[in-house]
Amino acid sequence: MFSRVARRAFSTTKFNPYKVTVLGAGGGIGQPLSLLLKLNHKVTDLRLYDLRGAKGVATDLSHIPTNSVVRGFTPDEGDGLKEALKDTDVVLIPAGVPRKPGMTRDDLFSINAGIVRDLAAAIAENAPNAAVLVISNPVNSTVPIVAEVLKSKGVYNPKKLFGVTTLDVIRASRFISEVEGTNPTTEKVTVVGGHSGITIIPLISQTKHKLMDKEKREALIHRIQFGGDEVVKAKNGAGSATLSMAQAGAKFANSVLAGFEGERDVIEPTFVDSPLYKSEGIDFFASPVQLGPRGVEKIFPIGEITAEEEEMLAKCKETLKKNIEKGEKFVTQA
Ligand code: NAI
Repeated sequence: MFSRVARRAFSTTKFNPYKVTVLGAGGGIGQPLSLLLKLNHKVTDLRLYDLRGAKGVATDLSHIPTNSVVRGFTPDEGDGLKEALKDTDVVLIPAGVPRKPGMTRDDLFSINAGIVRDLAAAIAENAPNAAVLVISNPVNSTVPIVAEVLKSKGVYNPKKLFGVTTLDVIRASRFISEVEGTNPTTEKVTVVGGHSGITIIPLISQTKHKLMDKEKREALIHRIQFGGDEVVKAKNGAGSATLSMAQAGAKFANSVLAGFEGERDVIEPTFVDSPLYKSEGIDFFASPVQLGPRGVEKIFPIGEITAEEEEMLAKCKETLKKNIEKGEKFVTQA
């Protein structure tokens, strides 16, 4: 049947048996994110869940000849959420409502907090060992919500809970390259703090452009912090970033899987349960994190920063603390 060459090529193909679940897979982010995960050879079992539309997305993607089986689940047929989550390795959560023009991410709290809380409870029951990658906004509060739910169920593993801040990181690479006239694929900007407005701190002083003049630098930082607004405005009521976010989410998920596989030196900035500012009451913080077989292997401090960045950090911490407490209280004082 197969030629000898083809048989050899086939037999040496490496299958990495990772199960990945997307909750909110029928949405603006969920669909392209699911496509990118279907193309990822580390994923063999892809499960898509949404209140609506997940079956159609799954059937569509199932015709792509990559090494994964893809299935769609909805709540109206049996226990779709349970089946989507059962013993999965990685859960991505882009379920929830996106912003409309004039809204901040915090304005989404009243709807998305409850959605994320309920999905976290299902994860606790059906996939207590999974890595959970939270995309739903406001990330500064939804990550603490997931943590509190998992704690209340006795399955919280701080090494496996991540707020996805990768979009800020990829935007920073792109925007700095536009300002400096360089190749965006080789620009690396460490972005720390949180994922909304002034809590997003791109550390320009740690890039090769540290001598950028003040005015240019301030405009760049502002654009990175409020880049999401450009998309919200351009979409004019039809939502926020979906395609760039899908790319960011797929990139981060790939890094988590690379860590699971034992790849070395996988480092990504992400919003995690962090010791860096815990003494100041800030339980979660985004900084570069080394990913490994157990999830978080090492959390790096933010390193040397300028007086200007120190000022930004102080403002970030004030807002972040409130955002985190709001998420925690939503669960503990319910
Ligand atoms: P969307 O409205 O297009 O899609 C959301 C999907 O979630 C819908 O298909 C909806 O049916 C589903 N959903 C709602 N409740 C659900 C539940 N209980 N279980 C399962 N599915 C449920 O929204 P979009 O544009 O995909 O954005 C999703 C979220 O991602 C928003 O909260 C948005 O703010 C956030 N976001 C986060 C970014 C980040 O950098 N972390 C960047 C951009 C958006």
